[in-house]
Amino acid sequence: MDKILVHGGQRLSGSIRVSGSKNSALPILAACLLTKEPCIIRHVPDLSDVHYMLQILSHMGAEVERASGTVTVRAEKIKTVAPYDIVRKMRASVCVLGPLLGREKEATVSLPGGCVIGDRPIDLHLRGFEALGAAVRVECGNVKVFAARLKGQTINLRGKFGSTVLGTDNVMMAAVLAEGVTTIEGAAAEPEVVDLANFLNAMGAKIEGAGTRRIVIEGVEELHGAEHSVIPDRIEAGTFMVAAAIAGSRVTLRRVVPDHLKAISDALIQAGFGIETARDTLTVVGNGKPKPVELVTEPYPNFPTDMQAQMCALLCEGEGISVVTESVFPQRFMHVAELKRMGAQITLEGASAVIKGVERLSGAPVMASDLRASAALVLAGLRASGVTEVNRVYHIDRGYESIDDKLNGIGAQIERVKV
Ligand code: EPZ
Repeated sequence: MDKILVHGGQRLSGSIRVSGSKNSALPILAACLLTKEPCIIRHVPDLSDVHYMLQILSHMGAEVERASGTVTVRAEKIKTVAPYDIVRKMRASVCVLGPLLGREKEATVSLPGGCVIGDRPIDLHLRGFEALGAAVRVECGNVKVFAARLKGQTINLRGKFGSTVLGTDNVMMAAVLAEGVTTIEGAAAEPEVVDLANFLNAMGAKIEGAGTRRIVIEGVEELHGAEHSVIPDRIEAGTFMVAAAIAGSRVTLRRVVPDHLKAISDALIQAGFGIETARDTLTVVGNGKPKPVELVTEPYPNFPTDMQAQMCALLCEGEGISVVTESVFPQRFMHVAELKRMGAQITLEGASAVIKGVERLSGAPVMASDLRASAALVLAGLRASGVTEVNRVYHIDRGYESIDDKLNGIGAQIERVKV
């Protein structure tokens, strides 16, 4: 298990190229199961979560080739069972359910376990499949779905915590081959859902309304192969935007979609930082400590839950008192205890973190937990005095392509140590 040593106090400046989106690549790779013909996916990031998804596709009989950032998938004949020992490594494996149900009218996938950010139910996914005519059985830790035929329906996917991203993806991937029209009300509007819908339409699907709360899918007989380039990763980009705010003077991110970053830009502007955008670049102008802000995480286009931990790291060394409220995953505060080990003054009140800014954090050995909490600890170490030792770095490698190399490329001093 590697660990990362962050030597604090370096000023960051320069530019970073953002990788393809993990949360777009995963469902798009699963969607390749919907056709027997080859699909070519470009800008696929080199991440352990992507490797797990490719392992699952191979295990199910698809031929998978990877040449740097381009993946080719040929799913001529496929099995419909995804086993526990692979699925348990990555919760997003659940998004193979939709394409298997759509194409083979059956699927057996190990139930995703919970994780440190909270219980990760899939009741909304299953509600959608049942509405399309599938029978659902949960037995021996597996969820089995099967249907004689799938018939389009109007389905509301809104849950207690708002819309469901992978639930919308899964129901969309089952509905593209259903008979008749499916309308998803309360759909997730994240850019990654739009990217998946664009890929499915390139395969011959008929989907309208992706990016709004109401998606209409007209079922077709079959889908053909297609080529697609994955959108830039807005959460990786946002993570580097916060790094620039914490320790940067002027940092430019290349290959981004500024519109996808609007809620993050607005939060940094509110905290007193400068943001300059061009067609596919975004520059953060750091200028010292953040002003106090009040933030609530909500589904897109509002402030993303996947950026909550990173913003907490920034606000720890701010002026005054900030409040960050988590409305999507109310337990998603694994980073707080570790930031407090670095001298942060944070109290948790229900689903809110109340942060009293301090002059400077101090480096300490800390433990990575979930993907974004781990990234937040690296960010906190950028300005902290001394060295911050982030253990269990495999959490970070799940969702960030060479985060240490990219930050060192703009002036950070980060070492990766094999343990
Ligand atoms: C996706 O997870 C992302 N993962 C998550 O990113 C992200 O945090 C999340 O969306 C919210 O934006 C991928 O895309 C691979 P949800 P997903 O279903 O789809 C509840 C990262 O760091 N819910 O939108 O699994 C759920 O408990 C990861 O890259 C139900 O109640 O999340 C949560 O409170 C972490 N029933 C809320 O909805 C369901 O059937 C949103 O979850 C499904 C979800």
